[in-house]
Amino acid sequence: MTKLMITDTILRDAHQSQAATRMRIEEMLPACEMLDSIGYWSLECWGGATFDSCLRFLNEDPWERLRKLKKALPKTKLQMLFRGQNILGYKHYADDIVEKFCRSAIENGIEVMRIFDALNDVRNLEAAIKYTKKYGGICEPAISYTVSPVHNEDYFVKLAKELEQMGADVICIKDMANLLLPYDAYSLVKRLKSEVSVPIHLHTHNTAGTGDMTYLMAAQAGVDIVDCALSAMGNGTAQPATEPLVATLKGTDRDTGIDLGELAKASRYFLKVSERLKADGFISDKSLKVDTNILMYQVPGGMLSNLVSQLKQANAEDKYYEVLEEIPRVRKDFGYPPLVTPTSQIVGTQAVLNVISGQRYKMFTKESKAVLAGEYGRLPAPVNEEVRKMAIGDKEPITCRPADLLAPEFEKCREEAGEHARNDEDVLSYALFPQVAMKFFETREENERKTAEENASLETNGITTIFVDDMTAN
Ligand code: CO
Repeated sequence: MTKLMITDTILRDAHQSQAATRMRIEEMLPACEMLDSIGYWSLECWGGATFDSCLRFLNEDPWERLRKLKKALPKTKLQMLFRGQNILGYKHYADDIVEKFCRSAIENGIEVMRIFDALNDVRNLEAAIKYTKKYGGICEPAISYTVSPVHNEDYFVKLAKELEQMGADVICIKDMANLLLPYDAYSLVKRLKSEVSVPIHLHTHNTAGTGDMTYLMAAQAGVDIVDCALSAMGNGTAQPATEPLVATLKGTDRDTGIDLGELAKASRYFLKVSERLKADGFISDKSLKVDTNILMYQVPGGMLSNLVSQLKQANAEDKYYEVLEEIPRVRKDFGYPPLVTPTSQIVGTQAVLNVISGQRYKMFTKESKAVLAGEYGRLPAPVNEEVRKMAIGDKEPITCRPADLLAPEFEKCREEAGEHARNDEDVLSYALFPQVAMKFFETREENERKTAEENASLETNGITTIFVDDMTAN
């Protein structure tokens, strides 16, 4: 066997999972030279919740972040997480938005596009795969891994073969909830290695404490690439730490070829960043500890923290375990969707409603209705028809690819955003998060006005220095 390759997620999933996606670009850039020389297969650094978080919480232009990262990481492939037809949002977008987004992401620096659909409905991956290939990206569609009566090994192997046929350059097993146990990983990877010919890339978390063992077994079975996070922000709800795996494999036929000393250096830097995030309340001790609730309820780590905050808002924190038990029942009624964005939020919120309203399905969220109406795509198993009827009445659920019902949106968004949007990238930010992006644009304009006024007043004082403000650049 050949060396095991590593993707480090320190710039994306690690802080998304441990620290509410709050790492800033200024905290990333000082480490980029170190990261770039380590010899990773790729660095996951964009997409997922980072785009939303940049605009919503950090007042950062996500596109500008990507360009800065690309410049600071010239040697390593940059990787993003893309939610298929949901792009980086929580609903379906029209194909023209998917095309423009793939194009802009690749043109601004992304090389590896990891594309998943929460329901594993391959029709929701079609457009993203097509446009990733059209614009020259490495196309890595993902299997959203889960456990249910319909999700067995044969199901995933069949899905992987379909993804290969659709043009996958690499296939990811995306175990977002840390449900893939070590021996199952061994068996699944073995079969995929013998039945598909493209490289297999494994993604898991260490929430339940099984992640390292899963990687070791997968390495034994011949997995090509695994996702780790530098120990400063690895483990717990994030990926298994990079250093222990690299050390474990040293001198074996899966030796990663990565130098532990270099990892330690980079990790020392990120320890300071994690201390800042902790001081600001974004990292809780709970997210760092082994949590076996996942193994019992199949609820991903991010969803648990969401749940706690929803119950707090409803003044019903004592209902935590009731809700945890309700989640698998809702999931069954909804046809066993894997629990990943956005289905994790949809199923979780419905379970909360079912418990706190005192009667199951007394109320439905708009999104629950949409799932049961087929608007997110084909569900893995038949739904509970009684529940569906309560949600959508006699309305016929749709059976086509949901995006086929969506008219092109890009030009409409461009018009709506008006002069606030300075380029296609701004229009895309607006298309995904209209209110949040608009607020970001207005703040940007306000800051520019202030800077211009300051410069003018300095000039009148006889100071002639020209302040170049990179916010005006594209
Ligand atoms: Co993840």
